[in-house]
Amino acid sequence: MISYSVHIVDDEESIREGLLHALKSRYRTRAFPAAEPALEAMREDSPDLVLLDLGLPGMRGIDALREIKILSPEILVIVITAYEDVKSVVSAMKAGAYDYVVKPLHMDTLEVSVRNALDTIRLKKEVRYLQERYLRDNLPCFIGESDSIQDVMELVGTLAKSPDTPVLILGETGTGKELIASAIHYRSPNFKGPLVNVNCAAIPKELIESELFGYEKGAFSGASASGKKGLVEQAAGGTLFLDEVGDLGLEAQAKFLRFLEEGEFYRVGGTRKHRVGTRVVSATNKDLKALIGKGLFREDLYYRLAVARVEVPSLNDRPDDIIPMARYFLLEFSRKFCKEFSGISREAEASLKAHRYNGNVRELRNIIERGALICKGTELTLRDMGIENAGEAIGPGEASDRPSFPPIPPEGIDIVAVQEAMEKHFIEEALKRAGGNESKAAKLLNLNHHTFRYRRKKLEA
Ligand SMILES: Nc1ncnc2c1ncn2[C@@H]1O[C@H](COP(=O)(O)OP(=O)(O)OP(=O)(O)O)[C@@H](O)[C@H]1O
Ligand SMILES: [Mg+2]
Repeated sequence: MISYSVHIVDDEESIREGLLHALKSRYRTRAFPAAEPALEAMREDSPDLVLLDLGLPGMRGIDALREIKILSPEILVIVITAYEDVKSVVSAMKAGAYDYVVKPLHMDTLEVSVRNALDTIRLKKEVRYLQERYLRDNLPCFIGESDSIQDVMELVGTLAKSPDTPVLILGETGTGKELIASAIHYRSPNFKGPLVNVNCAAIPKELIESELFGYEKGAFSGASASGKKGLVEQAAGGTLFLDEVGDLGLEAQAKFLRFLEEGEFYRVGGTRKHRVGTRVVSATNKDLKALIGKGLFREDLYYRLAVARVEVPSLNDRPDDIIPMARYFLLEFSRKFCKEFSGISREAEASLKAHRYNGNVRELRNIIERGALICKGTELTLRDMGIENAGEAIGPGEASDRPSFPPIPPEGIDIVAVQEAMEKHFIEEALKRAGGNESKAAKLLNLNHHTFRYRRKKLEA
């Protein structure tokens, strides 16, 4: 059973004693004669519920209530007030009190109010627990067997534990930057707060400031009458993910820099400073250094965002991940399309390994999705996936490790002529398969475009 903690703050000793007596058998209780020592104790050991007298000597009860709400909005407060003091009850309720009880205290009314408050806390805790479990259970899996991606994941694990460190994730399109941002969030202590995604490229320049920082009522025509919280405020206690940060306009960059430097911001049309604690993770597939060179990205902001940098290697540079990922995606799509697959054919796997992925993991995932959808059998074949055949003799893998050639005839062979004939044959074959496209043909032969052209010309001469 959950054991709740209740703090009692009242300057009248008889009331403190009466409340302690009524509650201490069921709850962990502490009593204080004034707001100051109570707040002091709360900083160390935060209670679930506070019974707070409004008519305290020293710091007023209403100010103590505001302090408690700043300290932790989660703590529920029931205010205790003198019978005639309706005005303070109204201000206390506005300041976030959960309920009020009137002196002289009737213990049964008070106990009902305490029980209701603690029921509310229990429900909130249960909902949060279920949400967290759901999120953790449904997190997309991060697949990676290559050494380079293992290093990235190790770094991500370390950074996640340090919730104040801004992290910049760099990598080509489709390498998994967004997935890494969510891994940083869900593995960090900020997990309990929300992960708020901001796609800087998708928000029009004239709206970005109000989207990020919110606005006060009447800030501009069309603004909602009550004002609006921005994404930064929504991310309080959690993670703010600035995706495509290279697309943030210069004006918004300046505002965001100030927020990072001072931890404070103004809503659009507002004069009150707001403070928010949130981890900032950003990502881009653009070359930020080049943007800085062109004056399109602020260097000072770059250094603020990139306190820690995670560089995600492109899929072509970590071929060991291709097959494990392909198999994982096949499993994912078999569930989605309610199909059963025994696996991917050898020929198809060899071709997946040889394929060049300009769209990185996203492209691989799309290839498998398309294959899983089209496939009529239980094994995913090359035809289902619509990519080029790596070819047994010219592709990497076992086939090319064991080439088979005819034996040397008694009169011997002209090795140079054989070499030339072979090269000519493969160049023509590669061009045919690539539909005449030289750079694709060059890739099939593992040559760079320049070398391919040179050899082709030489053989044609
Ligand atoms: N290591 C991985 N394991 C499993 N799935 C992955 C992995 N990396 C990426 N993916 C998947 O690949 C797709 C693209 O990843 P993501 O959206 O994170 O890329 P990105 O780097 O943010 O790309 P862009 O720069 O275009 O926004 C997603 O469906 C993602 O779930
Ligand atoms: Mg992305």
